[in-house]
Amino acid sequence: MLRRLHPVQPDSFAFTPANLEWAKGQISKYPEGRQASAIIPLLWRAQEQEGWLTRKAIECVADMLGMAYIRALEVATFYFMFQLQPVGSVAHIQICGTTSCMICGAEELIAVCKELIAPAPHSLSADGKFSWEEVECMGACANAPMAQIGKDYYEDLTAAKLRDLIARFSKGEVPVPGPQNGRYAAEPLSGLTSLKEFESGRQQYNASAQLAVDIGDTVKRIDGTEVPILTPWLGKAAKPAAAARPKAAKAAAPEKAEAAPKAAAKPAAKPAAKKAATPETAPATEKKTRAPRAKKTEKE
Ligand code: FES
Repeated sequence: MLRRLHPVQPDSFAFTPANLEWAKGQISKYPEGRQASAIIPLLWRAQEQEGWLTRKAIECVADMLGMAYIRALEVATFYFMFQLQPVGSVAHIQICGTTSCMICGAEELIAVCKELIAPAPHSLSADGKFSWEEVECMGACANAPMAQIGKDYYEDLTAAKLRDLIARFSKGEVPVPGPQNGRYAAEPLSGLTSLKEFESGRQQYNASAQLAVDIGDTVKRIDGTEVPILTPWLGKAAKPAAAARPKAAKAAAPEKAEAAPKAAAKPAAKPAAKKAATPETAPATEKKTRAPRAKKTEKE
């Protein structure tokens, strides 16, 4: 696939003050003369902030790292995780189209995206809220078919469930990620047949979905205001970020998961749970800005 910069570009790019501090912390991880090693986290952060990677953002990162623009452009255009065109203001939906998902109905999910978002991938919906693309296996094959929406996985999808998810995102809701058919994780739909002791005392959702609910950053742009700057190697203590987080309302749960017995929930080991309200207000933490899954080409 030919990857080019988008023909329409903004005039400027700047990290938010908090993201800039975070970026400087990343650069300081590397020995003198090796700052270019920070290019992927910095490009990723720029994309997290803006939603997509603009020419100005790539050049800004190159300047910060003392790199020739062409070197930064090589990285940005090589990895498919970098979006070189505008994405939906609410969410970019990545449908897995590899074997397990394709066998289990990925084509129907893609048809929904074509109908509800845009006929072609990497195009904005008419209201600018959504975009979509087909991606390679994202490692959730036991929960096929699935999609990554924002930063989280929505699994065990059907065309009807994806329609419903898109409608709810469009209204400003942030549906709970994870299996959408009532499964806790990747166990048989009829329930566990072994290792049943793990059923007792567990949290309401599986670890990944619970973390997403607690943090609530599923489709939020990361501007850094909610992120603790962790640079202990610089002698700085981590800044408490929780106090700065905006209040967020409770995230909406998938149908069957809502019925999960709260009484059985083990007290979460995580700090005060923040629930997502709207894509604009949902908070995030550094922990959640996890490393992206990169599609690689044969060059690798
Ligand atoms: S085939 Fe879709 S997640 Fe692996």
